[in-house]
Amino acid sequence: MKVTVIGGSGRVGKAAAFCLAEEDLVDEMLLLSRKESINKIKGESLDMHDALASKDVQVTINASSDLKDMSDSKVVVLAAGIPREDKMSRQDLAVPNAKIVGHYARQIAKYAPESIILVVTNPVDVMTYIALKESGFSKNKVMGLGNHLDSLRLKNLLSKHFDIHVSEIHTRVIGEHGDNMVPLLSSTAIGGILVKFFPQYENFDIEGIIEKVINAGQYVISMKGSTEYGPAFAISNIVNIILKDEKKILTVSNYLEGEIEDVHDVCLGVPVKLGINGVEKIIPIKMSENEKAAFLKAADAVKKSTAEVLQLINKDP
Ligand code: 2OP
Repeated sequence: MKVTVIGGSGRVGKAAAFCLAEEDLVDEMLLLSRKESINKIKGESLDMHDALASKDVQVTINASSDLKDMSDSKVVVLAAGIPREDKMSRQDLAVPNAKIVGHYARQIAKYAPESIILVVTNPVDVMTYIALKESGFSKNKVMGLGNHLDSLRLKNLLSKHFDIHVSEIHTRVIGEHGDNMVPLLSSTAIGGILVKFFPQYENFDIEGIIEKVINAGQYVISMKGSTEYGPAFAISNIVNIILKDEKKILTVSNYLEGEIEDVHDVCLGVPVKLGINGVEKIIPIKMSENEKAAFLKAADAVKKSTAEVLQLINKDP
């Protein structure tokens, strides 16, 4: 099994590569970057090998700036682009990152046509749409890391609020990996008990929790310059489920054709069944009226920003 990380010199890309290598699941991990970063990723590769020896883990970690080297990858993690900095919205990155993602998507189609693409670059829902269109891949093979990371953050917040072990919290966030994310509290369970039937729910500040999840990434960025472990481990969750063909349900950004609330022609975070072939099925979930309204608002917002980006890059490709 071979996995390639495009953007392997970035904080998220290299953290994801190491997290995946440490899982001892892949035979080969390829760090890809631009020529000017080749020494950095060669250093990352050597440093990672040293660390893995401490765990008797044997993974070949290569570093390259030649896109042809991604051939035979089962999964390509597309993490290249301009990272979000403090005070920047994910949308501020959209046009320059759309050009970068579009370029790499075409190269992935050329050199790794059998691979599955996991888009990390922000704004990830728009970038997932761009990668799908520019790669020409079927939609089951192109997904974005967005709301799975948000779901992990919500899991943590609920665990803290109810003082229950994080493994007992089953929740997810859908919609936009951005301001229009939708925590699905109607189908959140704690130890198998729907949260709305859980004691202490009456003093549960839903709006406050939603605000915290929406701002979680920005909050970390404002303190340490970027998020890295959260995205890296979220990426590792998704890639592991694919490579092990685990058929688990995770929330990833995927192209909709009416599966949920009759939303079409946009990429949004939705629950999907993941396996060796990528997205095996989008789960047509039901939700509360409030959640449905928020989901449709997210669909409109992401559709609008996707259309704006496409218009701008068509003007200035
Ligand atoms: C995050 O939420 C940066 O979108 C990334 O951590």
